[in-house]
Amino acid sequence: MRMVAVLAVAALLGVSACGSGDDDTPPPSTVEVFTWWVEGGEKAGLDALVRQFTADCPGQRFENGAVAGGAGVNAKRELTQRMARHDPPDTFQAHAGAELIDYIDAGQIEDLTAYYDSWGLRGVLPADLVADLTVRGKIYSVPANIHRANVVWTNPAVLARAGITVPPKDLTAFIADLAKLKAAGVEAPLALGRDWTQLMLLEAVLISDLGPTGFSGLFTGDTDWRGALVAKAITHFTALLSYGNLDRDALDWPQAERLLIDGKAGYQLMGDWAAADLAAKGFPGYGWFTFPGNGKAFQWSADSFTLSTGAANVTGTECWLKTVGSATGQQVFNAAKGSIPARTDVPSTGFSPYQQSAMADWKSGIPVPSCAHGSACPQAWQTAVNAALTSYSSGKDGKILQSDLAQAADLFVRP
Ligand code: BGC
Repeated sequence: MRMVAVLAVAALLGVSACGSGDDDTPPPSTVEVFTWWVEGGEKAGLDALVRQFTADCPGQRFENGAVAGGAGVNAKRELTQRMARHDPPDTFQAHAGAELIDYIDAGQIEDLTAYYDSWGLRGVLPADLVADLTVRGKIYSVPANIHRANVVWTNPAVLARAGITVPPKDLTAFIADLAKLKAAGVEAPLALGRDWTQLMLLEAVLISDLGPTGFSGLFTGDTDWRGALVAKAITHFTALLSYGNLDRDALDWPQAERLLIDGKAGYQLMGDWAAADLAAKGFPGYGWFTFPGNGKAFQWSADSFTLSTGAANVTGTECWLKTVGSATGQQVFNAAKGSIPARTDVPSTGFSPYQQSAMADWKSGIPVPSCAHGSACPQAWQTAVNAALTSYSSGKDGKILQSDLAQAADLFVRP
């Protein structure tokens, strides 16, 4: 977009846009930041980060390149097109872990290892996270946060009307509570959305049925997608779907969340960006619990920011990344975004009760990655799984779903 605009202006002025050699040309002072944060808690988080960037980086201006769509489904497509026409934003949001490897292998992002050293990031980020961010000895992004995916959000008033006052202890108890809500007249007890949100639900069930180690092994080749426990999880998943809204495939996560806010559903499984979003949308009285049967598993993902190869404004982007990685940047951003700081030295004061509980769980929990949010699998694998779930959602053949999932793993698993 921006390159097209620059070219148009250059043409009007009658100058060459590429390397005029004019030393008097001032360096660009706009940093285009590409995310998928456009409304509710996501926008509130971005706005807080931008305010900090403006204070930290005098002379630099934020340019919003956001593309709407939960989990970045549309943004990632748009980014691919921009990369293909050599028009990258200066920096873009990408999940730490497997998802980043695509950009690294394609030579689309720069090595930021030297910044880690000069900004002292290694000592203040968890060693495991730094290891997840390191590819062939180099680090290519700065994490802004840690999100948790395996959380169930509740509308306590709806649950109370059906006599439900405590969180279910396992999947069987959860299904029994869903049945109680249905019997109490709640048409869609479990709010559901499109493909990737269904993948989140399936992943949560897989964690319960396979345990954290068995689940993580699905993405390393150590656990068999064709095994009996995956079949069992698909049966549980199918039971859960039967308590959801029928228009699930047409809804993004905020629309499914609306069913919860409006009392049309009692539960929604969603990442903790929902904590910020529920508050931003005037529903601070939500309840939450870890997905039943997940025990101490903390399914994490981390939004991180990159420096695009060919970025127009390297100096400004460096300053953006420094703010993203700073203690103050992480404090203000995460307080508004629902996630917790990736840095370990940010005080917990000023964070919501949910976030304080997530901070404690992150310290004591068992980390497991997420395929829906890029820490476990690269984008092509995620796309294949989402497609399998979309066809399952209309066709409902568990055997075909399991075989589609296994075939996807055969293609993408990195030995
Ligand atoms: C991102 C979050 C975002 C969520 C919903 C996740 O993949 O990590 O930052 O809020 O998608 O859009």
